[in-house]
Amino acid sequence: ERVVLAFSGGLDTSVAIPFLAEQMDAEVIAVAVDLGQGGEDMEAIRARALDCGAVESVVVDAKEEFAADFCVPALRANALYMDRYPLLSSLSRPLIARHLVSAAKRFGGTVVSHGCTGKGNDQVRFEAGLAALAPDLRVVAPARDFAWTRDKAIDFAERTGLPIETSRKNPFSIDQNLWGRAVETGFLEDIWNGPTEDVYAYTADPATPRDPDEVVITFEHGVPVAIDGRSLTPYQVIDELNRRAGAQGVGRIDLVEDRLVGIKSREVYEAPGAITLITAHMELENVTVERDLARFKRGVDQRWSELVYDGLWFSPLKDALDAFVDHAQRHVSGDVRMTLHGGRAVVTGRRSEESLYDFSLATYDTGDTFDQSLARGFVQLFSLPAKIAAARDARHG
Ligand code: ARG
Ligand code: SIN
Repeated sequence: ERVVLAFSGGLDTSVAIPFLAEQMDAEVIAVAVDLGQGGEDMEAIRARALDCGAVESVVVDAKEEFAADFCVPALRANALYMDRYPLLSSLSRPLIARHLVSAAKRFGGTVVSHGCTGKGNDQVRFEAGLAALAPDLRVVAPARDFAWTRDKAIDFAERTGLPIETSRKNPFSIDQNLWGRAVETGFLEDIWNGPTEDVYAYTADPATPRDPDEVVITFEHGVPVAIDGRSLTPYQVIDELNRRAGAQGVGRIDLVEDRLVGIKSREVYEAPGAITLITAHMELENVTVERDLARFKRGVDQRWSELVYDGLWFSPLKDALDAFVDHAQRHVSGDVRMTLHGGRAVVTGRRSEESLYDFSLATYDTGDTFDQSLARGFVQLFSLPAKIAAARDARHG
């Protein structure tokens, strides 16, 4: 039997290779997906899977696909789970699931495997994705299904002589990609402990004095297409903003969040490009989207974020919300200027051919075309229901 394993190069998926081979008498095919994770050597990861005993090891370059098909839809939905978390891990699992399914076809795999525990969201995202894409594949998750602990996994690695540099001293569980970086466990499990500087890798300390950086981001229909007038792919836009906003300490998030499995967990995120882009995109929507559509979209955005957090990327409601979001982006085109500095991305200007901002209606100076005499009657009728109810309540004490 052949097992296709989502391989990250970390402790759990490295141990999983000899473990699956032994327990299931299987051949293991390792699939590492390149999602633009900063500072990881994908060729070294590919080689490591072979060192751990995989019969085949492939790296899939999914950087542009991840940016265009997962990060951009999240941006158009201003996706922030619990108003804070830009969903970086949640976005990657359905894409990895898709590539596991193609690898299973290509290499004759009948089982797919991942390194998630039974306490997290990621197992749900992988398996809900697999259920929608390839319901016939069986799933085994060794860390969950064979009740590993971190200590047991390290012992197994040492006993079988695996090339693992992760020691008992590196306590963090890290997940990173183009859309950001998530860090959990270790001393952060005490939610009173503040994150130390060494937790962060995508962002510099926002308190370090430095010159601000000014950036102009151009959108077409809610898709970022240029920075400072240079046309770029979505991947290039996000990558450049990760570097420029990261250098200014933008996008650090420390959140106690509600996992789908019912527990609260503490996670430290850094997402400089994502936070900068979402801030810019929200502002361009403020300028170009009509009021009722904008108000309604906020609820859609929140529901979209919850669905994707909960692993339902491939689902009927998500598809329908995507259609709504797509329609709502028809006029979201134009430029947003921002200053990146001191850990913040602050909008300083916006311009758009599709703008609904009308200077002559908004101005308090000469040139005002707003007819204020219409306001008196409007206010009276607008407040009439509340006025009638207040009178009734006064009568009945
Ligand atoms: N809590 C976040 C989420 O559910 C991040 C999960 C990070 N995964 C990890 N293996 N460290 O999306
Ligand atoms: C895990 O438990 O495998 C990682 C965290 C998560 O999935 O939320």
